[in-house]
Parts: sequence; structure tokens; C-alpha cells
Amino acid sequence: MSKHIALGVDIGGTGIKAAPVDLRTGEFTEERYRIPTPNPSTPDAVARTVAKCISKFSPSKKTPIGVAFPGVIQDGVVKTAANVDDAWIGTNMRDIIRDYAGHDVYVLNDADAAGYGEYRHGAAHGRDGVILMTTLGTGIGTALIVDGQLVPNTEFGHVEIGGQEAEEFAAESARDRLGLEWEDWTKNLQRYYSEMEKLLWPDLIIVGGGISKSHHMFLPHLRLRAPIIPAELRNGAGIVGAAAWAANLHHRDDKRRKDDEKKAKKAASKSK
Ligand code: BGC
Repeated sequence: MSKHIALGVDIGGTGIKAAPVDLRTGEFTEERYRIPTPNPSTPDAVARTVAKCISKFSPSKKTPIGVAFPGVIQDGVVKTAANVDDAWIGTNMRDIIRDYAGHDVYVLNDADAAGYGEYRHGAAHGRDGVILMTTLGTGIGTALIVDGQLVPNTEFGHVEIGGQEAEEFAAESARDRLGLEWEDWTKNLQRYYSEMEKLLWPDLIIVGGGISKSHHMFLPHLRLRAPIIPAELRNGAGIVGAAAWAANLHHRDDKRRKDDEKKAKKAASKSK
């Protein structure tokens, strides 16, 4: 794969999707590949499927690979798993995927990946200020990007409003579960986004997730201070963001390694 390409993998509740991404344009260079998420979505079963998605594109050892996951991830370790198997909690996702795929990967939260994707190549392209990305799906995922910097693992879908977690009444799944008409669901969204504005004062709000296809049904009815707009990359955002994120970290790690090597050489020649 060319040096302008990174591979993005997005683990969702129903499907695991992957594609190589051209980092200059944010476009897929090959058709997206999708495998249904195994049930139960245990670490081994999911890692095996992620490995299949990766090998489909035969990346070289130098190709950065990013994997997005629907939970909090710190230093490669899964800390929460609201909508996937609990067995993930406490596992080192980087290690498990490396074991199955034979490639090093970078892992991050799915909404963080989608937000970063929209910042790099989509609805928030190059925008400064405070950008709040929200993905409305089974849960509510959020990403906060401040002057181009991602603040990882914000979990504003679990904010409590009126004694209830937001994703219980404002996620897309809540619309189906509670049998809500558009109008009533939009009222729930209004409560959610008003609360977010009160707490974060974003300059721009982006709405992603499958439901953002139908944005004309609810976005025009929301009354907020900040502009609220649909995501542009739709369900490709997680893949694009994971790939771009991995490329960044890969570059950083490469530079660190080279700097360390230089320092070590210098120290060795001094001690001669
Ligand atoms: C999880 C988040 C995730 C979001 C979207 C929430 O329930 O806690 O980590 O980003 O769902 O998948």
C-alpha cells in the first residue's frame, strides 16, 4: 500500500467494517468490506473478525491501521463496553488484535474516530473552536474536538437528564424501543442538545449515525445556539477517522523511534 494510505476498521454493534483510506482525500481506495459482528461479541470472536477484515486488504507492515470500538479505551485497554460484550472490560485490545492479525494497530473510541474523521475530511473540515460530534445509534457516542485536538473518551451519551441517561431516550434505538413519532423523539433530542449546550458551549454540533440520513426530519426543528449539521461521511466516518488517527500516531511513534536512535548513537560516539 502507498504511504498515503492507512487502513480503518470500525467495530459496531451489528457489523465490523473496514476500508483503506487515502489520507489526502479521505476517500476509500477500495470498496468497503463488512462482516456481521459475532454474537456474542466476545474479545476472541471480535478480534478474529477484525483480523479477517485486515487481511482482506493485505496491508504491509508499515501501513498504519486504526480500529474504532464502542467503549472507552485508554492506552489500548478497554474500560467500558456499554453495547458490546462485558468480557471486553479490562482487556488490552491492541494486544488481542495484534495476536490475531499479526499487525500492530491503534485503537480508539468509535465516536472519537467518527468525530476525527469529520474534522479531517467531513462536515467540520479544518474548523477551529469547540466541535461536538454526536453519533445517534444503539447508544449515543460523543467526540469533542477543540482547535483540532481530540479530547478522547468523552461519554456524554451517559449524561443524566431528569434522572435518566440521555441514550435511553435520545439514541436512535430509543425511538424504536419507545415507539416514538419523529415529533416526540425530536423533543427528546432538544432536551439532550440543550443540556449539552449548557455544559459545553460548542461552536458547532455534528450529528452522525445511521439516522443522520433522515436529518431533515428533525434537525430543522431543533432550537439551539450553535449550528447543528449532519455528518458528511455518514457511516464511513469511523473508518476514515480511525485510519487518519492511526496515521498520526504512527508518524509520531516513528519520529520518536528515530530521535531515540539518534540520541543513542550520539551517546555511544561520545563515550568512545
Ligand atoms: C458508549 C460509547 C460509544 C457509544 C456509541 C455508548 O454507549 O458508552 O463509548 O462511543 O455508545 O457506540
